[in-house]
Amino acid sequence: MRKKAIVTSALPYANGEIHLGHVASTYLPADVTTRFLKSTGVEAYYICASDDFGTPILIQAEKEKKSTQEYVAYWNKRDYEDFSTFDICFDFFYRTSSPENIEFVRYVFEKLRNNGHIYESEIIQFYCKNDKKFLPDRYVVGTCPYCKAPDQYSDLCEKCGRVPEEIENPKCAICGQSPVKEKTTHYFFKLKNFGDKLTKWLDENENLQKDVKKYVQNWISSGLVDWDITRDIPWGVPIPGDESKVFYGWFDNHLAYISTAVKFLNERGINGKEFWNSADIYHFIGKDIVYHHYLFLPAMRLGIDEEYKLPDFIPTRGHLTLQSKKISKSRNWYIGLKDFLSYYPADYLRYYLVSINPYSQDDLNFDWDDFATRINSELIANLGNLVNRALGFTQKTFSGMIPAPDVYDEKDKEAESKIKGLASEITPLMEQNHLDRALKKIMEFSIYFNQYFQHKEPWKKGLGTNTCVFLSVNAVRSISVALYPFLPQSAQKIWTQLGMQGKVSDVKWEQMSEISIRPDHKLGQIAPLFARVEDEDIKKHKEKLGSK
Ligand code: MF3
Ligand code: ZN
Repeated sequence: MRKKAIVTSALPYANGEIHLGHVASTYLPADVTTRFLKSTGVEAYYICASDDFGTPILIQAEKEKKSTQEYVAYWNKRDYEDFSTFDICFDFFYRTSSPENIEFVRYVFEKLRNNGHIYESEIIQFYCKNDKKFLPDRYVVGTCPYCKAPDQYSDLCEKCGRVPEEIENPKCAICGQSPVKEKTTHYFFKLKNFGDKLTKWLDENENLQKDVKKYVQNWISSGLVDWDITRDIPWGVPIPGDESKVFYGWFDNHLAYISTAVKFLNERGINGKEFWNSADIYHFIGKDIVYHHYLFLPAMRLGIDEEYKLPDFIPTRGHLTLQSKKISKSRNWYIGLKDFLSYYPADYLRYYLVSINPYSQDDLNFDWDDFATRINSELIANLGNLVNRALGFTQKTFSGMIPAPDVYDEKDKEAESKIKGLASEITPLMEQNHLDRALKKIMEFSIYFNQYFQHKEPWKKGLGTNTCVFLSVNAVRSISVALYPFLPQSAQKIWTQLGMQGKVSDVKWEQMSEISIRPDHKLGQIAPLFARVEDEDIKKHKEKLGSK
């Protein structure tokens, strides 16, 4: 691992509110990872932006009778606010429609063209006579030519994940009529040329998930097709030399990873390009956009002579279902992030979503009852209980002053070694992106110390009481440090209750395994960390789903 990192997560379309599905697969894992990297001393930056261009946004702005600029500015601000409430801590949140990105996109296009990777071709496009519009992408629905799934948009099949070359049985998405075909000139990116180089990159990069690699390699060996990067719509990055047309949103959006990072770094007096090229690059995504991140994105970076290096990690996770059904806004089978956080603290959701989210393509399911059970029995009955018990007992029995240990028996020695071994147990899991397993280890550590406390019966005030209290309070400190990337607010609360100085975010990750709370240290003010999730509330939340 390098000592620098740039972390991004899939850029949210400036087109509707952030919901639980978004945060589960990308923003939360990326946030936890960035906090972890920072706490290990890596100079890491978490960069994101709203994805402002594209046909769906144009269609929606038209519907709402707003200018596109006004429309995307609203969602940019709103998304950022919602993310902040969820403690998703971007170092910089910008937009794909920024002047810096527009300039960069045009620069990349010119360089690709000079390198011979672009050609012009007259194509036949769907055109709706009724709406008097060319119909790119989401303006057309039909059957996927590869897997034959019906009702797919012409720019991406949600069933098989491929980008159809030509959708079958096309219909205009606005009025439902069959479109006609008209001629128009488009630019193409020669994706076909990159098959071998992409294969080599996939083979050599050890950090990419094996199962994803496999199906991307299958796509490559079954033959890549050149990529149409032009759109006949008025909203997008204008094409140099042909300003009436714009680039396809997927040509410009991922370039904002680079343009946004570089702007942010340059403004801090760091050379953005040098930093990018000497950092580990992480792009967190959901499995629906594998095609774009494992083929288009690296091919374009290869096409500009790797002026900006290719990603090192593309952590890819599955979709979130809700009560075992597909999330759908129109059927109100959906929970907005903002709503959720008006019911429960951010850390409850962070805990639950990390716990159920493995480092894999498997879909994960949000279930209200399971949420309540996990919060009540894991976060509260295990972790909250340990903190309250250890600190509460110290408060009551020792007026909040940590006693010097007296005697160490076998149990105490084992407990001490648990603390000393915690970092080395969790670190590899964090480095390999197994955030759920790392969190589980922390919870097991907490279970262990609950049992230890129970076993030692310090309330009997026999010999060994002081050691038990001394080690238990230190274990709580370890938990606070280890928990910080996952539950930043709760970790800080524990830190403050322990009477520690400064912020837990400034403590180095490795220090979780130190026994550094010494005798005579005084605890801070103690209060319960969490409040129970009540059954009646859960019932109400469930009833809300699907109703209009
Ligand atoms: N806005 C896209 C989506 O939600 C993701 C864009 S990620 C980018 O699917 F890298 F391509 F920008
Ligand atoms: Zn139409």
